[in-house]
Amino acid sequence: MSNNLAGKNVVIIGGTAGIGLAAAIAASDLGANVWAAGRSEGHIESAKAISNGKFEVRQADTHDAEALEAIFKEVGTIDHLVSAAVGGERTLKPFLEQTEDQFKAAYDKLWGYGKVVRTGAPYLAEDGSITLVSGSPARKINPSQSALSCVGASVENMVRCLAVEMAPIRVNVVSPGTVDTAMFDWMGDEKGGKLSAMTAGHLIKRAGSSEEVAAGMIFVMQNNFVTGTTVDVDGGRILS
Ligand SMILES: NC(=O)c1ccc[n+]([C@@H]2O[C@H](COP(=O)([O-])OP(=O)(O)OC[C@H]3O[C@@H](n4cnc5c(N)ncnc54)[C@H](OP(=O)(O)O)[C@@H]3O)[C@@H](O)[C@H]2O)c1
Repeated sequence: MSNNLAGKNVVIIGGTAGIGLAAAIAASDLGANVWAAGRSEGHIESAKAISNGKFEVRQADTHDAEALEAIFKEVGTIDHLVSAAVGGERTLKPFLEQTEDQFKAAYDKLWGYGKVVRTGAPYLAEDGSITLVSGSPARKINPSQSALSCVGASVENMVRCLAVEMAPIRVNVVSPGTVDTAMFDWMGDEKGGKLSAMTAGHLIKRAGSSEEVAAGMIFVMQNNFVTGTTVDVDGGRILS
């Protein structure tokens, strides 16, 4: 049976931009009480403007247990806990050309997700869920993406471990392909062209939207029979 999100408490860390923000909007549109959090004032302000008072926006870093706990305490009982934060610095270079510190920095995503789960667990409803975000490099290997691949695979395996250890709480992961979000804003005016080139060889020859990935997150939140699962929303990336 799928559950109705109306009146449920949904917390999305990494919810002030991109995929997390799209999930916040989608959950709120379905009647959930939503708290979305991120670090920078810029994203917080734009998320508040988009929210227009329909959901709460707070400041927290996945690495700051105190800030996370303050939000979780405010919420009280969390029905669905999500972390969609980027959370680490990835170096896109061959493994042997990266320093150990660069490689380790990518793992900040995993440590941050771990902190969100560890801090949030005492606040989870008995029939609650946790949703994390990996990425297609977790299972689609390309040169210069070892940091993304290793961390993404670790997030997916952590989800399987948590699903076993925390049952009946459900724990799932959504794996996006190439999605047009602020993550690629560093490309500036070339973003559109570069994303087209990056996705030209994919089965669906375009970048995905945050809303398409958010739909996968809503699916795992709502379906009470889904746990330990990886949902690929990637335009067929891992088969291309
Ligand atoms: N876009 C893609 O093509 C793609 C592909 C594969 C996987 N992913 C994964 O999808 C997830 C969402 O990415 P996105 O594309 O939506 O990125 P995005 O548009 O940059 O949004 C990331 C969100 O996370 C927040 N955030 C980043 N680091 C944080 C931290 N340490 N603590 C708290 N909040 C943090 C950001 O706000 P602040 O920066 O202000 O904190 C923002 O709200 C990430 O896990 C990413 O690795 C994305």
